Amino acid sequence: MASIASSLDPILAGYGHDPTALLQILRDAQEVFDWISPEVRAAIAGTLGVPTARIDSLTQFYAHLYDTPRGRYRILFSDNITDRMAGSVALMDHMLTRLKLERGKLSADGVVSVDFTSCTGMCDQGPALLVNNRPVTRLTPRRIDEICDLIRALTPLDEWPADFFMVQDHIRRADMLLGAAYRRGDATRAAVARGAQAMLDEMKRSNLRGRGGAGFTTAVKWETCRDAPGEERFIICNADEGEPGTFKDRVLLQSFSERVFEGMAIAALVTGARRGFLYLRGEYSYLRAPLEAKLAEMRRENLLGEKICGAEGFDFDIAIHLGAGAYVCGEETALIESLEGKPGKPRIRPPFPATHGYLGFPTVVNNVETLCKATEVALIGGASYAGQGTKQSTGTKILSVSGDCERPGLYEYPFGVSIAQVLEDCGAQNPGAVQVGGAAGNCLTPAEFGRRIAFEDQPTAGALMVFGSQRDMIEAARNFARFFAHESCGFCTPCRVGTSLVADMVDKIAAGRGALYETMDLQRLHDILRRSSHCGLGQTAMLALGDMMQKFRPAFERRLTSRDFEPGFDLDAALARARELAGRDDAAAHLGADI
Ligand SMILES: Cc1cc2nc3c(=O)[nH]c(=O)nc-3n(C[C@H](O)[C@H](O)[C@H](O)COP(=O)(O)O)c2cc1C
Ligand code: SF4
Repeated sequence: MASIASSLDPILAGYGHDPTALLQILRDAQEVFDWISPEVRAAIAGTLGVPTARIDSLTQFYAHLYDTPRGRYRILFSDNITDRMAGSVALMDHMLTRLKLERGKLSADGVVSVDFTSCTGMCDQGPALLVNNRPVTRLTPRRIDEICDLIRALTPLDEWPADFFMVQDHIRRADMLLGAAYRRGDATRAAVARGAQAMLDEMKRSNLRGRGGAGFTTAVKWETCRDAPGEERFIICNADEGEPGTFKDRVLLQSFSERVFEGMAIAALVTGARRGFLYLRGEYSYLRAPLEAKLAEMRRENLLGEKICGAEGFDFDIAIHLGAGAYVCGEETALIESLEGKPGKPRIRPPFPATHGYLGFPTVVNNVETLCKATEVALIGGASYAGQGTKQSTGTKILSVSGDCERPGLYEYPFGVSIAQVLEDCGAQNPGAVQVGGAAGNCLTPAEFGRRIAFEDQPTAGALMVFGSQRDMIEAARNFARFFAHESCGFCTPCRVGTSLVADMVDKIAAGRGALYETMDLQRLHDILRRSSHCGLGQTAMLALGDMMQKFRPAFERRLTSRDFEPGFDLDAALARARELAGRDDAAAHLGADI
């Protein structure tokens, strides 16, 4: 116990013994002890004065916190469909065989465990895995052999070949943001020279809309936060980037981080916020040290801290917080819960974060790319900015392109570019379908490749996964269905139960055991999820699957054993347990009811 306490003391002191930082404390403790043992849990709970149940609620919620031993080397293979298309399943099998392991089980000597995890954001250089949260990309059988040898020799991670951990940017097409020559501080100085109100006016003129998915007007969000009552205000950069197939924020954080931080500072200038957080997904924790170094440089250059750029009253600083493997934490209210040291369960909205956010104070939550775009507005003014793209979708958009194409990576275009153009530029190989917007997005067939990337046509947070016409789209459907079942936070019944049922049914169809009745049940579940889920995760969980079932109907029907409409499975009865848990048995809690 003494050694536990002595290892924990500096961690706890580093966070000022603040229970709000519980998630960060557990992450750091796990780095030291490999898992959160009952002794570690008791020591943290005792020192912080929180119930051990609160720690349990976090270890049970976050996939990358462990309350059972997982070994000194914790290997997690990225399980996006693009990783699978590049051979990840065979590579994992190879590793399991070499290490004489069963998936998800700790090795007999307690050294290593191997499992899958949701997309790690390396789709342009997959198949990929994480070893103790550090990404290893471009996996081949040879690299797997080398990794197994290093593990067997108990080689510390810091002594593994550096090129294993190299993550490349793969910028294939640069435009206003990725292609601009930029001198650090110029955007902040330009904003300060204008003043807070004039900067907000430029933001309004720019009609900049959020790049995180929903496309909300950024100026409106900032103004609402500025005008909301409250003694403090906060700026949060949403760097959770968990949408399968998306990795553009990773590159912005790796190579354009001053633009991200300056965008946050400009938001602070406009709203009057004095503190900001970058919520970085745990899978990107390898970026933490360079990001901290960048923050330190910017403080030295008076781009952060007090009297920024000499402006009286412009005081602002940024702290980095890490997630721990929960896609739902990208949803802005779940993210705020997580920042407050709790399980990331979405809040009921309204009120929205702009008026009631972090610790109840007015809070701006913006995507990484949105904040970078705000620096452009500061530099060139709102009118010039609005001259790019389309009327409703101004400026440029960065796409993360992966899958069956010769040049996966980042492509920046003015809004309005057609899917066909992107496919030509990336060297798409005989594309039979494109998944736009990640697992929560839409699946488009060649007849729709003339559609344009824009909020008024095909909106997207940035993912574009290419499927060659030889691909089995049922495998893609299965992968997405399992993703949502795994990532559902369990807070509301339609999503918790619905996503699991969907995953089981798609498995059944894929295995050739489905009947036409299942496809009808899936359609009913689609409606339930879309209409009754509490947050965007459940509401969008069947968008892609719905598209695929409709657009690739013959492929689905070929797999059905029976074209019988008789139920082989009673869906309403399957929901009985969920009704019991939710304490509901009213008409609306039954299938077929008009909810
Ligand atoms: C399940 C779910 C996951 C999300 N993940 C992200 C994410 O990783 N990054 C992000 O910026 N927004 C994400 N969002 C959207 C955020 O809730 C929010 O709209 C966004 O951060 C606002 O920033 P913006 O206005 O700059 O787009 C997600 C939403 C949902 C429902
Ligand atoms: S829809 Fe799903 S992820 Fe969202 S709150 Fe409900 S259970 Fe959680």
